[in-house]
Amino acid sequence: MNNLKTPQYWLQTTDSTMREAREVSQGNNFVLVSTIEQTTGRGTKGRSWLCGKGNIFMTVAIQIDLLGDPNLPLLPLNTGILLHEVYSRYLHRDFQDRIWIKWPNDILVETKKVSGVLMESDTNYLYVGIGINTAVAPVVTDGGRHSGCLNDYVRSLPSNKKIILEIYEGLIGLTLNPRPAEEVVKNAAQHMDWEQPVFLRSKPEKPWRPICLTKHGELKVRCDKGEERALSAEYLE
Ligand code: BTN
Repeated sequence: MNNLKTPQYWLQTTDSTMREAREVSQGNNFVLVSTIEQTTGRGTKGRSWLCGKGNIFMTVAIQIDLLGDPNLPLLPLNTGILLHEVYSRYLHRDFQDRIWIKWPNDILVETKKVSGVLMESDTNYLYVGIGINTAVAPVVTDGGRHSGCLNDYVRSLPSNKKIILEIYEGLIGLTLNPRPAEEVVKNAAQHMDWEQPVFLRSKPEKPWRPICLTKHGELKVRCDKGEERALSAEYLE
């Protein structure tokens, strides 16, 4: 890691760490942008991401050349595994087996979403935006999943800074030393709740049953008429 350029930006306020990360990434291998307040946070599916006071808002820019095949398509899943691992370190034992990866990388405790990931890219970088409800659970009014906050499920939680650095270092580690694809898929599958139906954006009224993960990290689903589909995580613009 010695020759890598991995700067960190710790902001007080910004509109979105996704935009900030694009502005400061050039010439670096990895960049961390974190902010205390985020005024126009963006979520997936065009939703907004609310700024709960004391929560984590961060983006990690990863130089795309460092992510070889097959590591790049597995990054969404790998990010989910990493977040699951980090939170599990601090969870109260009553919740240790109630924390789930909602494919590919939302993290739920029971049915409440405690963190979400937004992935975007340009020619040179992949931007991994992560919002974590460490302190408060914002009330979601735009159709997103009900939120929970990590603080309600832990023995004790370290500072946001420590959690952010664990995630930054984790993302650097899994980029530079990727785990074998089979291991990634197996690990993710162990932490998913296979009982929960999946709803597709194109047909939101119809439940699909998750069946398995493919070796590329896609989610195979089946509907009640037997039709099957492999869903890929859409992280490229
Ligand atoms: C989701 O909708 O589940 C993804 C939410 C991602 C939110 C984070 S907060 C830090 C970064 N900056 C943003 O504007 N969005 C992401």
